[in-house]
Amino acid sequence: MARAALPLLLGPLLLAPLWEVSTAGSLLSRLGDHVREVQARSGQRLGDPSSVTGGWLWQPLDPFNSSDPRSFRQRYWVNVGHWRPPDGPVFLHIGGEGSLGPSSVLKGHPGALAPHWGALVLSLEHRFYGWSIPPRGLEEAQLRFLSSRHALADVASACLRLSGIYNISASSPWIAFGGSYAGSLAAWARLKYPHLIWAAVASSAPVQAQLDFSSYNRVVSRSLADPAVGGSPKCQRAVAQAFSELDDRLSEGNETRAALQSEVRACGSLEAPEDQAELLEQLEGLVGGAVQYDQQVGAPLDVRGLCHLILAKQSRGPLSGLRDAIQLVLQTLGLPCLPSSKAAALAELRDTSPQATSLGYRQWFYQTCTEFGYYVTCKDPGCPFSRRKTLSAQLQLCAQVFGLSPTSVAQAVNWTNTYYGGRSPGATRVLFVNGNIDPWHVLSVLQALGPSEPAMLLRGTSHCSDMAPPRPSDPPGLHLGRQRIVQQLEVWLQEAKVDLGSPGDQ
Ligand SMILES: *[C@@H]1O[C@H](CO)[C@@H](O)[C@H](O)[C@H]1NC(C)=O
Ligand SMILES: *[C@@H]1O[C@H](CO)[C@@H](O)[C@H](O)[C@H]1NC(C)=O
Ligand SMILES: *[C@@H]1O[C@H](CO)[C@@H](O)[C@H](O)[C@H]1NC(C)=O
Repeated sequence: MARAALPLLLGPLLLAPLWEVSTAGSLLSRLGDHVREVQARSGQRLGDPSSVTGGWLWQPLDPFNSSDPRSFRQRYWVNVGHWRPPDGPVFLHIGGEGSLGPSSVLKGHPGALAPHWGALVLSLEHRFYGWSIPPRGLEEAQLRFLSSRHALADVASACLRLSGIYNISASSPWIAFGGSYAGSLAAWARLKYPHLIWAAVASSAPVQAQLDFSSYNRVVSRSLADPAVGGSPKCQRAVAQAFSELDDRLSEGNETRAALQSEVRACGSLEAPEDQAELLEQLEGLVGGAVQYDQQVGAPLDVRGLCHLILAKQSRGPLSGLRDAIQLVLQTLGLPCLPSSKAAALAELRDTSPQATSLGYRQWFYQTCTEFGYYVTCKDPGCPFSRRKTLSAQLQLCAQVFGLSPTSVAQAVNWTNTYYGGRSPGATRVLFVNGNIDPWHVLSVLQALGPSEPAMLLRGTSHCSDMAPPRPSDPPGLHLGRQRIVQQLEVWLQEAKVDLGSPGDQ
């Protein structure tokens, strides 16, 4: 999930702080974007940036309709620095719901794994995100060409086209890598195009689409109480108390609300119930983000840090620690205040101006309405947040923004699981890697489904952590997990040597 820019190659364009572009948007996606941005910029760079180039592929806008002549430009990156042709493998980093920069072929997976096997490293930006947005691509008429199925067709066509451009022989196995949604794409690329993709490593891949994702907050709650990452039951209770205090104060008179607005640094008035819900959503994202990106470079707060703040000032009232956490996160993200306007959030989702932001907020929301759901609710008894946020309110947004009815969203989510197989995809040679701290892991494959469908659940590990460059402070589970990824790849690449042969053998 490494994204964003290497200044040498791209100039200042991609480096503009993306969160200045808009003030709405979810705090959780902002946090994710910040983490990826910082990780792309920091740490050691593997190999020589001069062996990295970017390029463009013309791809059909509708690959399933050969009489539609329209096409769009899709961006890719290539790192030839480690490649040992003719039969070195190809490591393909599949992009997800954001832009991809040159660091996507330089570090983390698969850049870090490339030298050992002499791999050619490629990355492909997802259609409709980053710089691969078709003309007028954010308008509703065009968005129907945005789906995981289209993205997989792009992967297949890119395999063939790039094989031609880089003279990749048939004896070079293609290994797909990806994290989060792109991890699902990596698994599905192997599932749907097994003649092109030899194997896949799917990191934190929520392959099960789910309308009501209340289990997200069940894991958030459990992780806040997990001593392995600096949490405690006391911390979990304190977070729940803070949110119940928020709920209480929001239902009191307008003067209490005005005081609360300045206390939590909300950007606007908290009088309207929908703006109150928006504020609660952002604060839930702040806590969820500390869990999801626990112990990652670039994350302003992890579970340990959040719990420390929340518990340190508990004697001064239940909101005291949360206030400090808000301050820290706003500062890190460069935000003047906490977005709390439902109207602004709606306006952002409706905005069709082509900004090459890495957030892709509108596009991703479209994909949740048409494929995945993933609407986080607070139904679980252990959920520490406000219970005001309902599934139907979130489904209403699909209707407000795209005119899609709740029934159609529910049907789309069911179809996604029918089409890909949910948690039993039945693909061979896919390694599913997850962390037990990560709220997304519950939608992934956690146990091996057979000898060629291995899975691991790493203790003390958060979302996509295995893809980041290793650090001495990594939990032992993550350290071990990385070793097992290498061992598994060794096995599959040996199998490729036997099955695909090298041109000299034939
Ligand atoms: C395929 O493309 C042609 C030409 O743009 C168009 O007329 C036709 O309606 C399309 N078919 C489908 C099923 O989208
Ligand atoms: C392509 O690679 C093959 C080996 O796989 C080599 O024999 C051939 O000369 C290469 N062609 C070009 C144009 O580089
Ligand atoms: C609260 O509401 C009352 C009555 O509607 C109004 O007179 C007062 O000015 C309001 N106070 C604030 C702080 O908005």
